[in-house]
Amino acid sequence: MKLDSHLQPWRDYQLAKKFAWDPQQLDFRPDARDWLVLDDREQDVVLNLLSMFVKGEEAVASELAPLLFALGKIGNLREEEMFVSTQILDESVHVEFFHRWFDDVVREIVQHEKYYGENYRALFDDALPHALDALVSDHSPRAFARAFVCYHIVVEGTLAETGYHAIFLACERKNVLPGLRQGIENIKRDESRHIAYGIYALQRLIREDNALLEFVNEELNRLLPIALGVISEAVAPYGDNIPFGIDLMEMTEYAIDQFNKRLGAIERVLT
Ligand SMILES: [Fe+2]
Ligand SMILES: [Fe+2]
Repeated sequence: MKLDSHLQPWRDYQLAKKFAWDPQQLDFRPDARDWLVLDDREQDVVLNLLSMFVKGEEAVASELAPLLFALGKIGNLREEEMFVSTQILDESVHVEFFHRWFDDVVREIVQHEKYYGENYRALFDDALPHALDALVSDHSPRAFARAFVCYHIVVEGTLAETGYHAIFLACERKNVLPGLRQGIENIKRDESRHIAYGIYALQRLIREDNALLEFVNEELNRLLPIALGVISEAVAPYGDNIPFGIDLMEMTEYAIDQFNKRLGAIERVLT
């Protein structure tokens, strides 16, 4: 089978190779100095958000294998398989980045679990693994659609995008933690390819069966409140005065805006 160099997953596969990066090359010494001048509440917000990224990136790294397996079973989607293989590496690099940051900057054991609320667990311990693990035995379009919606649109395209935006802005406003900011910039570039692939794949499925759009909408609307719940429960401990000028309303609006952009892109396939 000849590879189609015009397909988006193929082009993004090429970009993934071009923009590959190595967390070992980042310098975290300025972050270690900044860490000591942050107050307790500021440190806690950073630990809170980054703890969610640690488990989130670990979950998306290990949950991609069933997607790659299922794409192989469908056949004829070699370019997508090649792209997803780069995504698996990307997610492992993201996991490595956060572990290295905690080791070099915080330098003490952090109880990440204490930051995981009810909605966070519902998403990462239940919805995400269920949606992806189903692909081991179910290769129906609905099973693929459920996985892309949960993984690429809700977890990556709505929640992670919002979290990365918030932590990046927080550090930028205070002009601290440059190593963290650099890593997050790199991660955001990777994530934009991942999200674009999820939209591409959902468009392909809906083009093949227009009735799937209704199912996609149902799934999106089922999961959006959980994603928004993750945001509000994350900042709840800080009351009205969230460090770094983080604003719950602003974060929620940003998340809904991201969500609507993804939904609009998916729906455009039928126009
Ligand atoms: Fe990631
Ligand atoms: Fe990702």
